[in-house]
Amino acid sequence: MNSGKIGIFDSGVGGLTVVRAVNSLLPAESVIYFGDTARVPYGSKSPETVIRFAVEDADFLLGKGVKLLVVACNTASSVSLPALREFADVPVIGVIDPGAKAAAGITESGAVGVIGTLGTISSGAYQKALKSYDTVNRVIAQPTPLLVPLVEEGWLDHRITEMVLREYTAPLVNEGIDTLVMGCTHYPLLRNALSKVLGVNIRLIDSAEATAGEVASALDAKGLRSDNLQGQNIFYVSDIPLKFQENAQRFLGKAIPLVTHIEVGDLH
Ligand code: DGL
Repeated sequence: MNSGKIGIFDSGVGGLTVVRAVNSLLPAESVIYFGDTARVPYGSKSPETVIRFAVEDADFLLGKGVKLLVVACNTASSVSLPALREFADVPVIGVIDPGAKAAAGITESGAVGVIGTLGTISSGAYQKALKSYDTVNRVIAQPTPLLVPLVEEGWLDHRITEMVLREYTAPLVNEGIDTLVMGCTHYPLLRNALSKVLGVNIRLIDSAEATAGEVASALDAKGLRSDNLQGQNIFYVSDIPLKFQENAQRFLGKAIPLVTHIEVGDLH
């Protein structure tokens, strides 16, 4: 089992921010990644549909014999963890609780903001997780659906992105937040733009990084740490790989020469 792989899935390319964080914290671990690029986005779909997709995605990775499952997609994490934990025979880690815990540990004012897809924010999952900590007394949640397309367009430092961020975050700033959870796979790429808009007094929480820490703890708790010297990544997507590969560099920080296409109908 110690040479087993970690399964990570997302609606598309964004989950590579989680792969990057896991690779950087746990270089000995190997990862099998599935990006559901044929059915992206999840963020605008109903919880019922997202749960159904998430179960199929997980089923595919479990079929590959992964030792632990990470739901990199915030939207999927916000609605599908109970369903996934019911049928998976390995630990299942989502991105919501690690992000909320990191924010709760850092806030001083107790006013925490969270941004995410419509699905993530409507689910109330971050709000609930954040409020479970005594250090958090107010949560201001804002859906920010324009951000995923802007990031995928590569407009990370574009003035239009800055304008959109200013508009979206104004209510959170007015409410006096001192911490903001970047509650979507794509938002770590907007860290610089967000820092520029929000200034140095609002701390940014990267759920991807927080999740990598949680993965390390879960592996330790179960004695599942890899005994390999260097892990490797294997990638699957449900649409043709070209666009995923073009975007991969930006999200993962390196090119992905080999990506395998799997039809949605063949996931289980
Ligand atoms: N991966 C999704 C998330 O983190 C963003 C993209 C989508 O809407 O599918 O919520």
